[in-house]
Amino acid sequence: MKQVVVVGAGYVGLTTGAVLAYLGHRVKVLDVDPARVEDLKRGKLPFFEPHLQELISLSQARLAFTSQYEEAIPTAEVIFIAVGTPSGPDGAPDLSQARSAALGIGRHLGEGFTVVVNKSTVPVGSGNYVEAMVRRAFWEAHGQEPRAYAVVSNPEFLREGQAVYDSLYPDRIVVGAEDKRALEVMRELYEPILEQSFAPPPFLPRPERMGAVPFITTDLASAELIKYGANAFLAMKISFINELAALAERVGADIREVARGIGLDSRIGPRFLQAGLGWGGSCFPKDTLALVAMGEEYGIPMPLVRAAREVNFLQRQRVVDKLLGELKTLKGRTIALLGLAFKPHTDDLRESPALELAVLLLGRGAFVRAHDPMALTRAQSEVSLPLEYAKTPEDLLRGVDAVVLATDWPEYRTWPWESLRGLMRVPLVMDARNHLDRDRLVAAGYRYLGIGVPSLGVLNKEGIPGSK
Ligand SMILES: NC(=O)c1ccc[n+]([C@@H]2O[C@H](COP(=O)([O-])OP(=O)(O)OC[C@H]3O[C@@H](n4cnc5c(N)ncnc54)[C@H](O)[C@@H]3O)[C@@H](O)[C@H]2O)c1
Repeated sequence: MKQVVVVGAGYVGLTTGAVLAYLGHRVKVLDVDPARVEDLKRGKLPFFEPHLQELISLSQARLAFTSQYEEAIPTAEVIFIAVGTPSGPDGAPDLSQARSAALGIGRHLGEGFTVVVNKSTVPVGSGNYVEAMVRRAFWEAHGQEPRAYAVVSNPEFLREGQAVYDSLYPDRIVVGAEDKRALEVMRELYEPILEQSFAPPPFLPRPERMGAVPFITTDLASAELIKYGANAFLAMKISFINELAALAERVGADIREVARGIGLDSRIGPRFLQAGLGWGGSCFPKDTLALVAMGEEYGIPMPLVRAAREVNFLQRQRVVDKLLGELKTLKGRTIALLGLAFKPHTDDLRESPALELAVLLLGRGAFVRAHDPMALTRAQSEVSLPLEYAKTPEDLLRGVDAVVLATDWPEYRTWPWESLRGLMRVPLVMDARNHLDRDRLVAAGYRYLGIGVPSLGVLNKEGIPGSK
């Protein structure tokens, strides 16, 4: 059992803290936002993440929240930095949160051997940077070198929407370290996960055939690059299938069949080969941008990663073009958006493809009315676009000229599409995630457009209102 502090109570920090407490460690989660800390103390989570609330309830005897560095840091044996690293103006990550976390840690570092763990996604060299910041802050506070601490890199691979599952049952744990003692501490900390020796929580049983988790130990720079490499590769994979989807449409192929045929090749694999509106969220956009910036810094142009970003932007534009192809003009049209979160099972709106699409539609003079099962309240306070919001299928679809599915929430498949059709001015469905049951929609009288699949169904003979 270790004394752990997690700095940053966001998606990564809170999940990491809850999981480590569940495994038996004593954990304090520290955040500079006092309102967030007060909410957490009262049991209120700052965002929606499946099973996190339940895990926190199970672990609360070993889990505390604070906004005070001086209270948490001195007794910690392992300190995770899990603060945000958003893109800065030049594309490189803004490390100001990581810097102030490192300074806060340095000022209050205790007597015993402490491992400072960089879990935030940070460019190569940041381990050294954090090391230096901790050392300087300790020196300024105490007029001497800190006694015993080491900085390691432990990149996070969790997916929002499945963060608890991914943390309990990861594909691998990567630790980059120069210090053998720190590596040993990390191995001990993660032992129950590495060996899968913990009792699974009732709501998340251990997957069948789950074996020991690979523990990848390497140097700091390699660990830091592994994280960017993984995210850029996944982003590239999605952009690749989206690029191929555009060609599939032209040549009359069905991208879902093509993706299946490609993905069954064990060298490629089926995941991240779903054509759609493209990727977004708090990681892929900023991490690909950071990789390009890192390449520039070192004179490596990274054309593949740049192209993945370009294709991704084009994907939103393609959806607008498809709507224009049907409706001829978007001026004065009302377009319904199914989904605002950047993916299902989260209320995170950061870099959401749905919002980027909304910007393009608004720019064409359309009105945009949006629905999301989880992110509506957050959107109303965080999004500055002039969107209309609808809470029910009926409110969303009444009088609209098209509905665009932007986020593949499972429940959209089971909406009563047959009875909703009559509410729409034009029964046109643009399924930008190839998610809905197109045969059912066509049978119910809709015109159906997807991504890289044949368009189906016809609109009525009188033509589309307002298109002439
Ligand atoms: N969200 C993901 O899916 C995900 C997955 C893998 C890796 N990551 C990486 O993990 C890091 C954290 O991401 P996130 O989505 O959890 O961020 P987040 O924005 O949800 O949370 C960051 C938290 O850190 C707090 N904070 C900022 N500065 C602080 C300081 N000096 N001291 C204490 N608290 C401070 C903020 O108040 C906030 O609560 C990022 O580098 C991100 O790239 C995120």
